[in-house]
This record gives sequence, structure tokens and C-alpha cells, in this order.
Amino acid sequence: MKNTYKKGNPTLIFTLAFIVPFVALVVIYFFTNRRPVELSTALMVVVLLMAIAIFWRNEKIIDRHRDIHEGGVKLVEHEYHQLETLVSLYTILNPRLPLPQTRYWAASPDVLEKLATLVLTKKPRCVVEAGSGISTLVTAYCLQKLGRGKVISFDHDPHYAGRNQKRLVDHGLEAFVEIIVAPVKEVEIEGETWKWYDHTKININQPIDLLFVDGPPRRTQKLARYPAVPLLKKHFSEDITILLDDGDRVEETTTAEMWANELNMKAEHVATEKGAYILEIG
Ligand SMILES: C[S@@+](CC[C@H](N)C(=O)[O-])C[C@H]1O[C@@H](n2cnc3c(N)ncnc32)[C@H](O)[C@@H]1O
Repeated sequence: MKNTYKKGNPTLIFTLAFIVPFVALVVIYFFTNRRPVELSTALMVVVLLMAIAIFWRNEKIIDRHRDIHEGGVKLVEHEYHQLETLVSLYTILNPRLPLPQTRYWAASPDVLEKLATLVLTKKPRCVVEAGSGISTLVTAYCLQKLGRGKVISFDHDPHYAGRNQKRLVDHGLEAFVEIIVAPVKEVEIEGETWKWYDHTKININQPIDLLFVDGPPRRTQKLARYPAVPLLKKHFSEDITILLDDGDRVEETTTAEMWANELNMKAEHVATEKGAYILEIG
């Protein structure tokens, strides 16, 4: 939360409010030969100006305190919501080991809860994911609960792919996952050069029912996540569902709109911590 409070000094203003008129009065009285009526008018004007200054200053201080209070309340509500969804996630998954850290580079609890709900309600047989991590673990736990299905997860980085693979083994979920180390490479889409995971060696031998897009990193190129749909759509099942994370970023909003146009689907914005889009048929 941005702290908008700046140190005010009401004591100084109050002191000035009384000293300035007093000094002005003394100066006018001793160094001019003004008549008493002019003196009292001058004094009243000075006092009025000081009163306005005090009122204005106090209003500013009250405004700042109100902003701090409202910002604090919003922050607490936001954090509470993340905790609530994390608790819900633990309850749904009942993991054998603690889950790794959420948020920042990893997905946030609220989008993970959305992902788990999609897996458990749509019951996909084939899930494809761009960008491995806690989302892979969550998807694999849900597939294990369903007793079938597989998540194929692309990761450009062997270090993170290896770490996530080990975690999946520790959780006893390796039967439901295939993490593919796929470096980002140039690829042609309708005559234009893009960059995306090198997926050419991957055998997607059944229709993709759910696609979760959380990579590659945005530094890869402009609209870094866009190629997922044009490159994978030939594998989509008839009732494909797509979940795109980081939907509050301009590039992801554009990506969701482009996908919706290309697939003739509706992109629904979901108000998660980082924003998300869900694209579904119908
Ligand atoms: C947005 S992250 C994917 C997060 C993943 N879906 C999850 O839920 O945890 C995209 C990529 O960043 C990389 N990555 C993961 N953790 C990272 C970290 N702490 N620092 C830098 N890169 C990271 C991984 O290679 C990952 O594929």
C-alpha cells in the first residue's frame, strides 16, 4: 500500500495563528498612527486568514488519515481473500506435503483455486500448461482426485522444470504429469515470426481439454503468451477451456481479445489478484 501520509505540523500553524496577528497588531499600533477602527479591521482580516489556513491544513490531515485508513482496510481485505482461497485450496487438495510458495513468480491462491475448480468440474483428460510451478502441482492433485488425466507442462528453464519435477515426485504425482523442458525458439505464425516453447518434439496425442497459460515470461517478446493458441489450436477438443493468468496486464488483455476473436469464443475477465481470463465455448 502506498503511504500518502506526509508529516504535517499543526502545532506550528496554531502557534503562527496566534503569534502573527499579535505581532501584526503590535507593529501597526506602535509604528503607525492608524485609528483603532482600522487596526481592528486589519486584525480581523489577519485572524480570518489564519483561521482559513488552519481549517485547510486540518482538512488535508484528515484526508490523509482517511486515505491511509481506506488503503489499510483494502489491503487487509485483499490479503484475507488470498488466505481464504489458500485454505480452500488446501481443503480441496489435501496435499501430502506443504505446497510451495504462491504469488510473485508463482500463481496466486485465487487463480489456483479457479484452476482447481475448472479441473474438478470439467474433468479434462488432457491439460496443457505453459509455465510450470505450483499450478502443475495443483492440476496434478486434482487429476489424481479424478483418478485419470494428464497435465503436460512446458517450461523453458531446465532449473525450474527440474525443481518442479522433483516436487511432483515428492508429492507422489508423477503419474499425472509430464514436464517438458522446451526452450523458447522462433516460430512462424501466418507469415510472422514469433517466439514460443519448442513444442515440435512433443507428442500431444489426445485433444486438449484445458489450457492454462502462465508463460513464457513477458521479456520473451511483445504479447509473449499469444502464440499458445495459434500453435496449439489444432489439438483443441470441442469444449476447450482456456485460463490465462496475469489478465490485468495490457498485453494479456490484448492476447485474450485476440484469442476470443480467433476462436469465436467469449473471454471473461476474472477479478483475481493478477487478473485472469477464462475462454469457454458458449
Ligand atoms: C509465471 S512463471 C509460471 C508459474 C507457474 N505457473 C506457477 O503457478 O508457479 C513463468 C516461468 O518463470 C520461471 N520461474 C518460476 N519461478 C521463478 C522465479 N522464482 N524466478 C524467476 N523465474 C521463475 C519458470 O521457468 C516458469 O515457467
